[in-house]
Amino acid sequence: MSDLPHLTELYGSLNDDDLYMRFFIYHRVSEEEVKRILAQEDHVTLLAERDDKIVGEGSLFTNGEFSLVVRREHRRMGVGTKIVESLIEEAKARRIKMLIFYTLPNNYPMIAIGRKLGFTLKFDEDEVIGTKVLL
Ligand SMILES: CC(C)(COP(=O)(O)OP(=O)(O)OC[C@H]1O[C@@H](n2cnc3c(N)ncnc32)[C@H](O)[C@@H]1OP(=O)(O)O)[C@@H](O)C(=O)NCCC(=O)NCCS
Repeated sequence: MSDLPHLTELYGSLNDDDLYMRFFIYHRVSEEEVKRILAQEDHVTLLAERDDKIVGEGSLFTNGEFSLVVRREHRRMGVGTKIVESLIEEAKARRIKMLIFYTLPNNYPMIAIGRKLGFTLKFDEDEVIGTKVLL
């Protein structure tokens, strides 16, 4: 629970587009909601830290689905790539067989990360699905 203030602050810094990309919701995430999310045992959340500041997070669910977000001012510096690399390692350690992410077709950075890290990408009109089988 010590991550609660950090995550509440990080999620509070996001704009509506980021919130939708990360959570598929269009409203602010209250501290109560973050508390509820943290209490759910269906996922693990990894925090990315730089200079004592939480600059991003990635959450991996037991079914292999994951999502992440990086603070705006820390984007395009490789943090998102690092988070997904760490999620892949975490998934392997948990013996998860396949990773999957869902995003929108205009989410170029997420698509670039998926492509770079060897995900198979399926492009539909309104979503992109990335999958990666883990050995
Ligand atoms: C997606 C996200 C996590 C990427 O984080 P990031 O720290 O900027 O990612 P990286 O710095 O590792 O960049 C990843 C790649 O995207 C490219 N990229 C970044 N921003 C880009 C942009 N606006 N347009 C095109 N490419 C872009 C980078 O050049 C990099 O590619 P490269 O390694 O081939 O050079 C971040 O944009 C974010 O938090 N978005 C909102 C939430 C979200 O979409 N989450 C994903 C849900 S599945």
